Amino acid sequence: MNIEQQKKSAASAAIEWLDSRLHTDTVIGVGTGSTADHFIDLLKRHRARFAGAVASSTRSAERLSRHGIRIFDLNDVPELPMYVDGADEITIGLEMIKGGGGALTREKIVAAASKVFVCIADASKRVETLGRFPLPIEVIAMARAQVVRALEALGRQCELEAGDVRATLRVRSAADGSPYMTDNGNLIVDVGGWTIADPRAIEARIGAIVGVVESGLFALRGADLLLLARSDGVETLVPRAQYP
Ligand code: 5RP
Repeated sequence: MNIEQQKKSAASAAIEWLDSRLHTDTVIGVGTGSTADHFIDLLKRHRARFAGAVASSTRSAERLSRHGIRIFDLNDVPELPMYVDGADEITIGLEMIKGGGGALTREKIVAAASKVFVCIADASKRVETLGRFPLPIEVIAMARAQVVRALEALGRQCELEAGDVRATLRVRSAADGSPYMTDNGNLIVDVGGWTIADPRAIEARIGAIVGVVESGLFALRGADLLLLARSDGVETLVPRAQYP
């Protein structure tokens, strides 16, 4: 299986996992990205069996709507039993880097509102230590420069060898050069060169920088279940002993 087939089989495993858990009043949290897109496409067939979805981005909301799946505002839903989304990197403890698609803040909000976070990923996403993928951070535009300085200083403090931790503003496209804007109207800064040995501590420290909206570190609230597609099948990983 190539990477695209792996993404699809992870999405398909999530549909299987959902199957016995769907009820006509169930609202599902749905993430963003190419793996989540496969999940949304497979979900279409089951749309009559659940109430609808809360989406973590405009892009996913549009795709769900095109498939006839009703979109709910999170404020109108008391509880989400499950949230299905991809990741850019994930460890054995199911801590993640997310936000490659720029939806990290809404993803974190939907994850926080959900009882069970099901991560669907291809094998390339599984890492020993987070940080090879540049860490996305959503930032208020006015604070961009000072947040970049604070992030680089924090990165240098945490890197034993004071490595080349660099924060760069995400652009829409190289040709155009204009800044990428999130669904919330903010900027994204991507921090590269940072080996994140203690993701929970770093998530808390980044969250304390004034001007940061959210970081793409999902460690304080990681995934509860990982459906990891490899070339020979899908492996199920849980970080905790008991699982519903
Ligand atoms: C979007 C995300 C995605 O889950 C992450 O980027 C993985 O994307 P893909 O499934 O396309 O590899 O966090 O903000």
